[in-house]
Amino acid sequence: MSLRLGVLVSGSGSNLQAILDASREGRLDAEVRVVVSDTPDAYGLERARRAGVPARVVPWDPGRPRQEHDRAVVEVLRAHGVDTVALAGYMRLVTGELLAAFPGRVVNIHPALLPAFPGLHVHEKVLAHGAKFSGCTVHFVDEGTDTGPIICQAVVPVRDDDTPETLAARILREEHRIYPQALQYLAEGRLRVEGRRVFLDPPSPGSGTLHNPSVRF
Ligand code: GAR
Repeated sequence: MSLRLGVLVSGSGSNLQAILDASREGRLDAEVRVVVSDTPDAYGLERARRAGVPARVVPWDPGRPRQEHDRAVVEVLRAHGVDTVALAGYMRLVTGELLAAFPGRVVNIHPALLPAFPGLHVHEKVLAHGAKFSGCTVHFVDEGTDTGPIICQAVVPVRDDDTPETLAARILREEHRIYPQALQYLAEGRLRVEGRRVFLDPPSPGSGTLHNPSVRF
């Protein structure tokens, strides 16, 4: 079933762009109905306009409860006929207001291998910890911080000379591949959630074991 997507952004919107490109090229069976930002200067809004997609701002007001903010977001999404919500660099925790309006239909991308390194300043934390791999995760959203059932992940090696910026860029390239792919699985009705586990029907074999540094024997 073709997805009627609402995409929530706070910044550059390169993941939004990957979704727009994939649907334009027929790799993703989805129409982006509206893009919503919590900040008026998010470049993602400009990307939406260029693609001919309605761009809306629901400004973040620290004085107002998060539930109320989400109620306003839901109103915009509903007004545009959205059935699935993709968080794409959206820097707000969502509340039950949004989740209840789109049950099982809210997904997020996070730039680390969850459940390791949830939250903010992820690449700094990965480097400080000395992890040899990082990556990205697409997951269903629940009320926790980056805690929902995992749909798919991509693994990226951490290099000795990495900075947070170089690592972020290497991961972002993979984000642009796995996010449209995960949404396409959803569009095809191939994702089955059992507890915390998400199964792909029919299953895909995955692509092997990774070592960093490489194993010589
Ligand atoms: C991406 O790396 C995304 O995974 C991350 O922000 C970046 C947004 O880039 N999201 C989070 O950290 C969410 N907590 P984009 O605006 O160019 O898509």
